[in-house]
Amino acid sequence: MKPTSLLPAALGLLFCDAIAAQTPATTTAPKPASGSAKTATKPALATATKPAAVAAPQSHPTLEVTKQALRVLRDECLACHKPGKAKGGLLMHQREKLLEGGENGAVVELGQAQKSLLWQVLKDEGDAHMPPKKQLSAAQIQSIADWINLKAPWDASVFDEAPKPRVVALKELPKTLQPVLALALSPDQKQLAVARANRVQLVALDQPNRPLLASLGDQTEAVSAVAFSRDGKWLLVGGFQKASLWELASRQKKLELRAELLGPINALCFSADGTAAYLADGEPNSAGFIRQFNLQNASLQATWKAHDDSILSLRLNTKGDLLLSAGADRMARLWQCSTRTLKGTYEGHTNHVAGACFNADATQIATAGADRELKVWDVASREQDASLGDKRVSFSALDWSPDGKTLAAATDKGGLYLHSDIKKHDGAQRSETSKERKLPPCGQPITTVVISADSQWVYAGSFTGTVQVYNAAKGLLEGELKL
Ligand code: HEC
Repeated sequence: MKPTSLLPAALGLLFCDAIAAQTPATTTAPKPASGSAKTATKPALATATKPAAVAAPQSHPTLEVTKQALRVLRDECLACHKPGKAKGGLLMHQREKLLEGGENGAVVELGQAQKSLLWQVLKDEGDAHMPPKKQLSAAQIQSIADWINLKAPWDASVFDEAPKPRVVALKELPKTLQPVLALALSPDQKQLAVARANRVQLVALDQPNRPLLASLGDQTEAVSAVAFSRDGKWLLVGGFQKASLWELASRQKKLELRAELLGPINALCFSADGTAAYLADGEPNSAGFIRQFNLQNASLQATWKAHDDSILSLRLNTKGDLLLSAGADRMARLWQCSTRTLKGTYEGHTNHVAGACFNADATQIATAGADRELKVWDVASREQDASLGDKRVSFSALDWSPDGKTLAAATDKGGLYLHSDIKKHDGAQRSETSKERKLPPCGQPITTVVISADSQWVYAGSFTGTVQVYNAAKGLLEGELKL
C-alpha cells in the first residue's frame, strides 16, 4: 500500500529520526510507517467505544495466561493483523476471526500449541517467521503456547489497555529539519505560539513586523503539539512520551507530564478551567489513547482508548464539557469530559482525519481528511450537514474561527481554502453549500493552520519550518514570519 498523503508518512519518519539508539530487538516494537493508506475495510469499533475499565485484581491463573498471551498478540502482531491490514488474510482482534485463520486455513489448533501455526511462526527457525523482523522472547512464546493449550480463551478488555511504552533514547533533530508541527493563538489574539523543531517560539502579532518574543523549551525531540490555557497564562507543550506545562509570565517550565505515555503527543488541550490537561498519545499504527492529567500535581487521572489508530486532533468545545478527537482510523469521536463516555462517532471518511473542530456553539463539527473530503456534521444527529470543496485535494489541517464564521482547511501541497456561509446540504449543488475562497498557494507542505477570532488572519505552519501569514480579509498571502 502506498501513502496517499505525504505528510503523515513524513511525520512518521520524523519521529523515527528523532529516535536514535533503538533498544535491542527484543524490546523494540516494529515501527510501521504511519502514513499507509487505509483500505476500505471498516475497523472494529466495538472495542473502542468504552473507556478501559479498571481491572479488578485477579489471580486466576487462566485469566493471567490469557491476558499475557493477548498482550503479546496486541503489542507484537495486531499492527499487521487487524481490520484494514490483514496480512496473510489473518485477523487477531477477535477470537472468532483468529480461529477462522488466514489464507492457508486455521492457525490455531485448540489445546495443541505444537500443531498450531500461530506458535510455530514464533520460533527463531520458523519458516514464515513472525513478527517478520524480530524475535520474541522465550517468555512471550511460552505464553502463547500455554494459552493455546488452554484452548485460547479470550478477554477483550486487554485490547483497550494502553500498552507499555517503548524505551527509546532521543536524538537531536538534524539542523536541516526544523518542522513546524503545531500553532496556537493566544486567547487575546496577540501572540502566536509556533511549535518549531524542539522549541516553542512566541511571536507578537500586535507589533509591527511581528517580532519574536521568546523561545521556550528544553526538550530534544520535536514539539508535536502546543496549546494556550483559556486565561492565556499557560502553555502546554507536547513531546515524545511526555508533555510539559509552561508559565508564560515567568517563561518557566512548571510541570512535566509523563506516566507511560506512548509515542508522540500529537494533540493536546487544557480543560476549560485550566486545572486539567487532555493529551492524545499512541504509537503509529496502534490504538490512540486520551489521557487526562491533573495540572496541580501532574498526576494521571484517566486513560481511555479513543481510536483504533493514532489521534491527530483533539479539541474542547467552548463550554468545556465535550472533547472532540479525530484520527488515522478515519473517525471523529465526541466524548463527555465528566464521564469520559462516548457521545458519538462521526463516520464517513475513507482515510486519515487530519483535523476536526467545533463551531462556536458546538452544534456542528467539521472534519478534514486525507481522503480529500471536508465535511460538516450535525453534532446531535451525527448526520452529515455538508460536504465542502471539490474533492481534488487531500487535507492536512483544519481550524474554525472562534466566531464560527470561517473554516480554514489546508493541504500538504500548500493550498489553503476558506469556507464561510456554510449551509446544510439540501440536495442542491455541492458548490452552493458554502462560499469557498482559495488563497494563493504557498508551495509548502502545510502541517497546521490557525485562523484568528475575527476571521481576518490565517497562519499556516509547514513541514519545512515556515509559518505563512495570510490576510484572509484581502485574500492575500502576506509572507513568512521571521523565526
Ligand atoms: C510487520 C507486519 C507483521 C507483524 C507485526 C506480524 N505479522 Fe504475521 N504476517 C505478516 C505477513 C506479511 C504475513 C503473510 C506473508 C507471510 O506469510 O510471510 C503474515 C502471516 C502470518 C501468519 C500465517 C497466516 C497464513 O494463514 O498463512 C501467521 C500465523 C502470523 N502471521 C502470525 C503472526 C503473529 C503471531 C504475530 C505476532 C507475534 C505476527 N504475525 C506479526 C506480517 C506481520
